[in-house]
Amino acid sequence: MKVLVLGARGMLGCDVLRAAEDAGHEVRGFGHTELDITDPDALRSRFELDRPDAVINCAAWTDVDGAEDDPEGAQLVNGTGAGNVAAASAAIGARVIYVSSDYVFDGTKDDDYIESDQTGPISVYGQSKLAGEVATATANRRSFIVRSSWLFGVNGPNFVDTMIRLGQTQGQVLVVHDQVGTPTYTWHLAYGLVRLLDSDAFGLHHMAASGSCSWYEFAKEIFRQADMDVVTLSATTEMFGAKAPRPAHSVLVSEIQHAIVLPPWQDGLSSYLAQKKNTETEGEN
Ligand SMILES: NC(=O)c1ccc[n+]([C@@H]2O[C@H](COP(=O)([O-])OP(=O)(O)OC[C@H]3O[C@@H](n4cnc5c(N)ncnc54)[C@H](OP(=O)(O)O)[C@@H]3O)[C@@H](O)[C@H]2O)c1
Repeated sequence: MKVLVLGARGMLGCDVLRAAEDAGHEVRGFGHTELDITDPDALRSRFELDRPDAVINCAAWTDVDGAEDDPEGAQLVNGTGAGNVAAASAAIGARVIYVSSDYVFDGTKDDDYIESDQTGPISVYGQSKLAGEVATATANRRSFIVRSSWLFGVNGPNFVDTMIRLGQTQGQVLVVHDQVGTPTYTWHLAYGLVRLLDSDAFGLHHMAASGSCSWYEFAKEIFRQADMDVVTLSATTEMFGAKAPRPAHSVLVSEIQHAIVLPPWQDGLSSYLAQKKNTETEGEN
């Protein structure tokens, strides 16, 4: 299949590019400066030229707190931009994947979230991602909308690296204990997305690692696996006073038969730490 990846220089996009190549697809990736998803004419011309069979849209405004100050900016990329990508794909008969987020939920459900649950974003970012879901589904009937959560990977700044850096420099960290979700390794998600592309299971999919934890529990596991002795103190969301509200509980599970299941988050973490170690060793040699 001829696959085009947008947002291909981002944390997930880089891994999606490689995973699609590994699967034997003919792949082209475009970063923000190469192809801007808010420019429908540029998308149309590029797609007409390349004639991909499938487009994976990893381009997004991902600054959750920054979105509160610039709702139009976030909506333009995550909502309107996603619709542009889906429409340009539909125009050449290509299928499209839109990557969405657990932040489309309000986090008040007592249980994990399934695809048919009522959405109710509590942040501007979450609203813009939900708008992108609707715009994608409306513009392209051969679309997959894939919600994932708490991503970490080697191609971008992430929570794991922040914890390790703080642990090394301060020996003590304060971490939120009242937000529960699922840390997902981008490499595992990238493989899941590429597998999904081969199917005709269009529509909404939840695809996060298996299991769940709070940010505090995630930090404890990072230090355990990295063999670091760091005092980990638990905090409340309120103590941090972040600009954007976050869902308290946003664990994603799938109600779809034969859903693609990703490995447990602890396995994602160990694979990530091993991959980082390899990259660092290669850099030294
Ligand atoms: N990170 C998470 O925890 C998380 C959780 C759930 C879902 N997601 C979703 O997963 C997807 C990938 O996220 P990520 O973590 O890989 O984010 P990321 O590293 O910030 O990558 C997003 C990429 O999109 C690019 N981009 C921004 N505006 C664009 C535009 N107008 N046109 C083309 N490209 C544009 C960015 O380029 P510049 O940086 O140069 O602007 C960046 O390279 C997003 O849809 C996100 O909403 C993320």
